[in-house]
Amino acid sequence: MEEKNRNQAKRVSDSQVEVSQLMMPQHANIAGTVYGGAILSIADSAAYVCAARHAGPQCVTVSVDQVDFREPIRIGELVIFKASINYVGHTSMEVGIRIEAENLKTGQRRHTNSCYFTMVALDESGKPKAVPSLICETAVEKRRFKEGQIRREHAKELAEKRRKAGL
Ligand SMILES: CC(C)(COP(=O)(O)OP(=O)(O)OC[C@H]1O[C@@H](n2cnc3c(N)ncnc32)[C@H](O)[C@@H]1OP(=O)(O)O)[C@@H](O)C(=O)NCCC(=O)NCCS
Repeated sequence: MEEKNRNQAKRVSDSQVEVSQLMMPQHANIAGTVYGGAILSIADSAAYVCAARHAGPQCVTVSVDQVDFREPIRIGELVIFKASINYVGHTSMEVGIRIEAENLKTGQRRHTNSCYFTMVALDESGKPKAVPSLICETAVEKRRFKEGQIRREHAKELAEKRRKAGL
């Protein structure tokens, strides 16, 4: 069953998702701009949709990396989350999310955040299960796959160093 799932390769475009959300007063922090947690919550949902389209609905978030808040987002702006699977391992998937804010008065968009979610597919007993391999068709998809692979290798090296140091 695992190998069958593994063999059903899917394209990056099969799972890509774009989610838009208008920033309302309930999304504000005490400074009056948008609360980072509100952005991460929507980004997590977008990452989940990507992972579920690729590997089925039983997926969980195992890690969130490189969350950069480059500039504040204001209440009243439309925030667009573009999520795409960058890389797949055996049971895990790295979903990259590009976040843009649109000023609805001027129509101008700016890139405000990027982050990477690692999602793991689970079987009926809650154990990690193999995910379909990923077909990267464009030059950008191929570059993102290689970058995801490098991030994964760095994360494994770091975990190994911590283990050896008894941390
Ligand atoms: C997801 C979970 C079942 C994985 O269990 P585990 O014992 O770590 O399983 P494994 O060691 O086999 O790892 C599974 C995959 O996740 C990857 N992984 C595990 N921890 C990771 C981390 N911190 N960062 C990136 N990848 C990680 C492993 O490399 C492996 O990937 P691969 O199969 O593609 O090589 C377990 O960590 C879990 O239940 N976490 C909680 C998930 C959750 O509730 N999320 C919501 C948070 S509120």
